Amino acid sequence: MIRVFSGIQPSGIPTIGNYLGAIRNWVTLQEGHECLFCVVDLHAITVFQAPETLRAHTREMAAAVLACGIDPARSVLFVQSQVSAHARLAWIFNCVARLGWLNRMTQFKDKAGRDREAASSGLFVYPNLMAADIAAYHARRVPVGDDQRQHLELANDIAEKFNHDYGVDFFPRIEPVILGAAARVMSLRDGTKKMSKSDPSDQSRISLTDGADAIALKIRRAKTDPAPVPESEAGLADRPEARNLVGIYAALAGSSVEQVLAEHGGRGWGPFKEALAERMVATLAPIAAETRRWLGDPGALDALLHEGAIRARAIADPIVAEAERIVGFLEHAAPRAGFGPGRAGNP
Ligand code: AMP
Ligand code: TRP
Repeated sequence: MIRVFSGIQPSGIPTIGNYLGAIRNWVTLQEGHECLFCVVDLHAITVFQAPETLRAHTREMAAAVLACGIDPARSVLFVQSQVSAHARLAWIFNCVARLGWLNRMTQFKDKAGRDREAASSGLFVYPNLMAADIAAYHARRVPVGDDQRQHLELANDIAEKFNHDYGVDFFPRIEPVILGAAARVMSLRDGTKKMSKSDPSDQSRISLTDGADAIALKIRRAKTDPAPVPESEAGLADRPEARNLVGIYAALAGSSVEQVLAEHGGRGWGPFKEALAERMVATLAPIAAETRRWLGDPGALDALLHEGAIRARAIADPIVAEAERIVGFLEHAAPRAGFGPGRAGNP
């Protein structure tokens, strides 16, 4: 079975962009693939997170992913910091990737903003850790939103350079899986900006836990232009806000942009937005309820994540140990009876 890996940062409540661009495709891929899904808290702290907020967001993200339909009996769901193989391989990849490659990453430029000198060094090497996440499992398919395309190309460059430098054929090539009419959902306030769970404006996004009233209000207020809904796709040219709302509608309805325009073209945005909000509520209400149910039982959630980490380690530890051997590190000591954790002198 082909192995699939993907990750999501616990840097806020997931948005409809996360859902339509990524998580929904994760759910589909569970059929016929061996899947691992990871809440990437090591990635989240590349931008400062208050510790209690990070802990809460990590559980909320895991709960939301389960609520969207990830089935822990079929897929491995776990938290990145609980599997040390990620950090170990990331260090090796820090030494394989070239500064020139990282300097071309547009997400770093966006996130670091004008004051690059003040960005954390973790934010700069973020794509190396992402490459390690995938390579530690020899995963071949990676379902993501369109914004991660460049990072996945870099991941392939890193794997290839590792193989070349060490004269091995160890890390496989990966194939991005970028699907659907909403692989890039934009902000509701600015059609040229990606919708993001960490945007300061709550009005810019629909969160998976938003209630019906909040959804209706945000969609009603979503930016549009004065022209009506166009009758064909050509009419969306240079209208980023219009294209965004139509794309979201198509993704929610499971139809194409052309089909949506055939149905709604020529009408005003008022009725279109009403229909869009209705579809969104129908999709998100059960997800929000199921998320709340999981958050009501944090003990069960933590236990499920611990179990996921054990299953993830069983795959990643031997692969990363082999990478360490290839690099020339000495083997780890075998665990010895009587020298377990907690004994004086042996951390
Ligand atoms: P992040 O929220 O950055 O951790 O992203 C988690 C997943 O959601 C990745 O696969 C992203 O590509 C995807 N994603 C994030 N924001 C969007 C968006 N606005 N539209 C589509 N996909 C997105
Ligand atoms: N960088 C991704 C994002 O922000 C999250 C991520 C981390 C990821 N590691 C990954 C996605 C590995 C796919 C595979 O969207």
